Amino acid sequence: MANYTLPRLEDFIHRINGKRTHLLLLRNNRGVEVALSDFGARIVSLLVPDNKGNRVDVVLGFKCIADYLAAGEPYHGATIGRFANRIAGGKFTIDGYEYTLVPNHGLNTLHGGSGGFHNRVWDRRVNYLQKADFYYVSADREEGFPGKLAVRVKYRLTDDNELTINYRAETDAPTVINLTNHAYFNLNGEGSGDVLDHALKINADRYLPIDEYQIPTGVWEPVANTPFDFRQFKSIGRDIGQPHDQLKKGNGYDHSYILNAADASPSATAVSPATGIRLDVFTSEPALQLYTGNFLNGKDRGKQGKPYGKHSAFCLETQHFPDSPNQSDFPSTLLIPGQVFQSETSYRFSVEKSTDFR
Ligand code: GLA
Repeated sequence: MANYTLPRLEDFIHRINGKRTHLLLLRNNRGVEVALSDFGARIVSLLVPDNKGNRVDVVLGFKCIADYLAAGEPYHGATIGRFANRIAGGKFTIDGYEYTLVPNHGLNTLHGGSGGFHNRVWDRRVNYLQKADFYYVSADREEGFPGKLAVRVKYRLTDDNELTINYRAETDAPTVINLTNHAYFNLNGEGSGDVLDHALKINADRYLPIDEYQIPTGVWEPVANTPFDFRQFKSIGRDIGQPHDQLKKGNGYDHSYILNAADASPSATAVSPATGIRLDVFTSEPALQLYTGNFLNGKDRGKQGKPYGKHSAFCLETQHFPDSPNQSDFPSTLLIPGQVFQSETSYRFSVEKSTDFR
């Protein structure tokens, strides 16, 4: 069993575009520790106790800032914006005016463009033992988006082993916004192989099928009788190899689930049968992108030098629907001056004593 530790603070001190980067630590009284970097306002490490009392680092990432800069996959643990997920053709219209973004995924714009929030050094103004706040002001027309957008991301670690991320943003001109965190989870421990044995449950009756460019077709499709049905616990790997057209288009799961109307139950739950670590996700967002690390190819090596191969993690990216600015049937992602964008997502960790969870 790997011995997971936090990265060294000095390995995260760097200068990117003239701004200094740092590593911040959060810790509660039950042994949970979180390392955050102001580069991308991101989660670097998340150490939680397992069923044997060992601490396991459950997120993928790198041991130093230089590795983040060199990595093939740039989104590890990062705050994603100004618009998470895809905008078809890198174009959208507000009040009759068409805005053109910088495409970075074929013809589409993914995760706010290559100069998105994951690639910016955020300011931090508060850092106590159990909370840290990051701030970023995205200039008018940054990556092509209209309006100067002031964003705040608050991380809170509770004594109930819950990490809460609270987002707030305001704009000075009409714009579109979709914020998420791109943590890659492996509840067996980062670098320990694939996550296909994890049990997963998602509180969603419908999902959004995609076209060959991974843009939602606009149909709200029932998950019933498809490999996309996670309404009861099943392993991530159980149906992932099925010859289903949507699994081919996503190269695995890479789809937006339309969350059932809010009740007290979690939006999603994942459990590792090996460590017993259970993750419950709660969110105020209407959707969640299940992504099973389909593009990870083993070239990036993680905090302990282990390769991050295909399916070596899963992401549960809480957000609005992909390509909302171009799809009138989707909940609006428009933000206008005077309005405050707010959303919150929590990751709660606990340990399952038996494998008979529900
Ligand atoms: C999201 C997308 C995926 C992929 C990853 C990052 O989850 O939906 O298609 O781009 O981010 O590689």
